[in-house]
Amino acid sequence: MLAEVLDALKLTPGAWIADGTLGGAGHAESILAATSPNGRLFGCDRDGAAVEAARRRLAPFAGRIEIRQGNYADLASWVSAASCDGLLLDLGVSSPQLDSPERGFSFQRDGPLEMRMDASQGMTAAELVNTGSAEELAKLFWELGGEPQARRLAREIVRARQQRPFETTRQLAETIERAAPRLGRKAHPATKVFMALRMAVNDEIGSLTRGLEGALKILKHGARLVVITFHSVEDRVVKDFGRARARDYTFSGGVDVPELREPRAPELRIVTRKAVKPSAAEIAENPRCRSAQLRVMERVRESET
Ligand SMILES: C[S@@+](CC[C@H](N)C(=O)[O-])C[C@H]1O[C@@H](n2cnc3c(N)ncnc32)[C@H](O)[C@@H]1O
Repeated sequence: MLAEVLDALKLTPGAWIADGTLGGAGHAESILAATSPNGRLFGCDRDGAAVEAARRRLAPFAGRIEIRQGNYADLASWVSAASCDGLLLDLGVSSPQLDSPERGFSFQRDGPLEMRMDASQGMTAAELVNTGSAEELAKLFWELGGEPQARRLAREIVRARQQRPFETTRQLAETIERAAPRLGRKAHPATKVFMALRMAVNDEIGSLTRGLEGALKILKHGARLVVITFHSVEDRVVKDFGRARARDYTFSGGVDVPELREPRAPELRIVTRKAVKPSAAEIAENPRCRSAQLRVMERVRESET
């Protein structure tokens, strides 16, 4: 959704844009071209290999870029407050991550059961499946993966690891396939479990929640926040955040009772009421983007007098 992203960011020469998920820097390169000659880009990615790839691709823009390895949830700790004209978050995994067996993201390629975007931080997927209780694993498979057979698969995993702890992606994929045979379904039975594990290993929902808060700090009045999600749980987090921050009141206790509303100035304006989805032509060209959803918000502030 490159054209939609560039359009949503309302790019002009000289704009300062942050890209919290650089990946292979395809979006970043187009953003820098559209903000020539003096636009700036602050970019980060948790994945060291992605940062290296981005540095190589963006080398022609030296002097206009600042790139770091890190979590976009921490952008506000190194990008100045109210300095950016736009922020892009293109969530999920990149093709190089999925296609590298040694990263352990894919059940289609055998490799270590790893899945950390930043290999220096946190638990691997193997540690998670070898130590989590059946209840914990079932909760995770259901809440993050929407896996209807979550309990059954979790019980099978706990049983299988007593014989032999999980070390590889194939070992886990085969255990799941034995417990829940494919039976003519198109998707591999391990799809949802792998996605849930990846999201848990990388605390993707936690990063998103912190990253959206950080966005409010670094964006100027009128700046655009553009988020692409690939997962219904993430999309709901973005949608709920936008709605809550676009209201001109707050309420406490989790229930919106008109008498208990506290007025306050909205922090965002919703630009896309409904999520924008890729066109059929784009899906045909790149099937991995089929579940992408794009949402756009604009930062609004009370005028500072
Ligand atoms: C879909 S790819 C981005 C592709 C990129 N927009 C491009 O044009 O090539 C997602 C990237 O986000 C990174 N990522 C995911 N969660 C992150 C986080 N919390 N902080 C920083 N990077 C993250 C991944 O490592 C991956 O490289």
